[in-house]
Amino acid sequence: MTTTTTRMVPAATEHRERTREEGLADLHAHLLPGLDDGPASLKEALALLEELAGQGVRAVVCTPHMYDRRYRVTQEQARSAVSRLTEAAAKRGLRVDLYLGAEVRLTPESVDAWDAGMIPRDWGGGRYVLVELSMGAPPRDWLELAHELRVASGATPVLAHPERYPATVRDGALIETWVDRGGLCQVTWSSLLGLAGRGPKRRAIWMLERGLCHVMASDAHDLGRRAPHIQRSLAWVRRHGGESAVEALLANAWALLAGNPVEALRSIPWPSRRRTGWWF
Ligand SMILES: [Fe+2]
Repeated sequence: MTTTTTRMVPAATEHRERTREEGLADLHAHLLPGLDDGPASLKEALALLEELAGQGVRAVVCTPHMYDRRYRVTQEQARSAVSRLTEAAAKRGLRVDLYLGAEVRLTPESVDAWDAGMIPRDWGGGRYVLVELSMGAPPRDWLELAHELRVASGATPVLAHPERYPATVRDGALIETWVDRGGLCQVTWSSLLGLAGRGPKRRAIWMLERGLCHVMASDAHDLGRRAPHIQRSLAWVRRHGGESAVEALLANAWALLAGNPVEALRSIPWPSRRRTGWWF
C-alpha cells in the first residue's frame, strides 16, 4: 500500500539512493490549501499534488509565503495544513513525502522571526532556508539582510527564482554577487519554457550556463497559469544539456532536502549548443 507521510528528513544516503529510482524532489511548491495564493481548498491541493506525483515528484517541501505583506501565515497554521493534506493524500494512495518549509520574504521582520523560531525548518536538517524578494525593487540592504538571516538561522539562504525579479532580469551581476557571498539559487522549471516571459527565460538559461543555478523547483501554485511543468522542462534540459545535466539537477534537489552541501552546476556541459546565444 502506498502512503504519504510527513517526517523528519531521512538519512542522506537514503535520498541519494532514491534519486534515480524514485524520481524528483520538489523544494518549492504552494501546496497547502487556503494559506496563500496556492490552492484554495483541500480538493484543489490534492489535484495539484496528484499532478506533481504524475510528473515524477516523490517528495515536496510545502513552502507557503511567510512574512509577505499579503499573507500572514503562521507556523502553526502551516503545520496543521500539512498534516491534513498528508492524511488526505494517504487516503488517495499518493506516494509523495511532504515536508513543511516556507518561502520567506527577506525583511528585517523575517530575520527576527527566524531568531524567535517562528519559521518552520523541517527539511534539509534546518541547514537551508528558501527566501524571496519582492517583485518590486529588492530592498537596498538585501545582501545584509541575507547575511543577518544566515547568522540568525545558521542556514544558507536559497533564493527563489532569481531569474524572475525585474531587477535581476535587468542586471545579472546581482545574482553573481548573491552567489559570491555564499547564497544558493533555485530556478523555476517553467521559466525555462518561457512561461514567466522572455526575460526570465533568458536569465534562467544564462544562470544555468554560468553555474549560478543550484537547484530547480516547480513553484507550483495551481493547475492553470502557475502549474508545474517539470517533465517538459526536464526534456528541455536533456535536449540541451544532456543526461548529465538532468542527473545533476535531480541529485542536487535530493542533496538539499537531506541537508547535504551542493555545488552549482558549473561542470555541466551543454553538448547540443551549437552557437553562442542560440536561446535568443
Ligand atoms: Fe513561490
